Amino acid sequence: MKRFVLAAVAAVALGGAAYADIIKVGVIGPFSGPFALQGKNFKAGIDAYMAVNGKKVGNDEVEVIYRDLPAADPAQSKSLAQELVVKGKVQYLAGFYFTPDAMAVTPILKQANVPMVIFNAATSAIVTKSPLVVRTSFTTWQTSTPIAKVAFDAGVKKVISVVSDYGPGVDAENAFKAGFEKQGGQVVQAIRMPLSTNDFSPIMQRIKDSGAQGVFAFLPSGPTTLGFVKAYNENGLKTAGIKLFAPGDLTQESDLPALGDAALGMQTTFHYSVSHDSPENKAFVAAAGKAIGNPAELTFPAVGAFDGMHVIYKMIEATGGKQDAQKAVDAVKDLSWVSPRGPVTIDAESRHITQNIYLREVAKGDDGKYYNKEIQTFEKQGDPGLAAAK
Ligand code: PHB
Repeated sequence: MKRFVLAAVAAVALGGAAYADIIKVGVIGPFSGPFALQGKNFKAGIDAYMAVNGKKVGNDEVEVIYRDLPAADPAQSKSLAQELVVKGKVQYLAGFYFTPDAMAVTPILKQANVPMVIFNAATSAIVTKSPLVVRTSFTTWQTSTPIAKVAFDAGVKKVISVVSDYGPGVDAENAFKAGFEKQGGQVVQAIRMPLSTNDFSPIMQRIKDSGAQGVFAFLPSGPTTLGFVKAYNENGLKTAGIKLFAPGDLTQESDLPALGDAALGMQTTFHYSVSHDSPENKAFVAAAGKAIGNPAELTFPAVGAFDGMHVIYKMIEATGGKQDAQKAVDAVKDLSWVSPRGPVTIDAESRHITQNIYLREVAKGDDGKYYNKEIQTFEKQGDPGLAAAK
């Protein structure tokens, strides 16, 4: 006992830099190519967190290693993750913009003894693939369920659904349909488009021909969503009175200048708006705006990354910097904090984030800048998709 105490005192006395370990975090995301802005937001969120909270947790120093994955490419995602774990000696894997990229890495976590903190990928089932997955973003079930009520309350009874044909799109389609039919509405047709679709005119024609009063749409944020909303306007659907309902992926802030007045009034439901009015968000926007360089480029993956780093710091603290993936994950179960998006908790059972979902409307500020104005709050939403994912 005495010897232990003496050793501990000696370690503290000698401590500091000499005894510090470097804890490596491997972040996989789209840092080049058409979705590079989304990856740039991962980095801005990470940089903002480390600028505000420092690079040290206890005596350990956190180092982030980035790997570029420009598009959804599960095989490449897995090989980058393996390389990060084996050669890079990372203790944490994080990032993951697209669902297939996150899915492909879940089988290696246990053997690698590495937790995965998802900053974006939004298909409900991912968390069920390994007990070592924690998610700080959202699911499309979580964001698409409330918009079904909004659509019905707006007097729309017949909707056509249009989604990208992969995990989060299928989840969004199912979530909207379940919510809308519960209200008494009807989904008259459900279109699934290949992820690679970039000519939306034929889809717009099918929407017009369907006789629906409204369209529900999900596509992953990026050039795809910008193209879809533009096509909706340019093909005369908006002027024809066919209302567009969507989760907030379709009106991410960085796209609003390019959409211009055409997006004004568009309603979406989402977990984060850059305009969210809270001291935590003001501090976040200041730090992340500085990190990204051009604050007009800030959008939601930055907050997923910022909160993801919070979770990783808590994991490092709880394990004293030792590599113990299960202990790290257990330490953040039930963890609550005030995120820039509002109050959040990591649900102990699902390891997915419980959060408010906001109804927002695209508005133009006095400064002439477009923003998502929060107009209603759906409080403390868990993931309704988990039952479906099991
Ligand atoms: C996903 O692939 O899970 C994903 C990507 C972008 C989004 C939402 C979901 O905006």
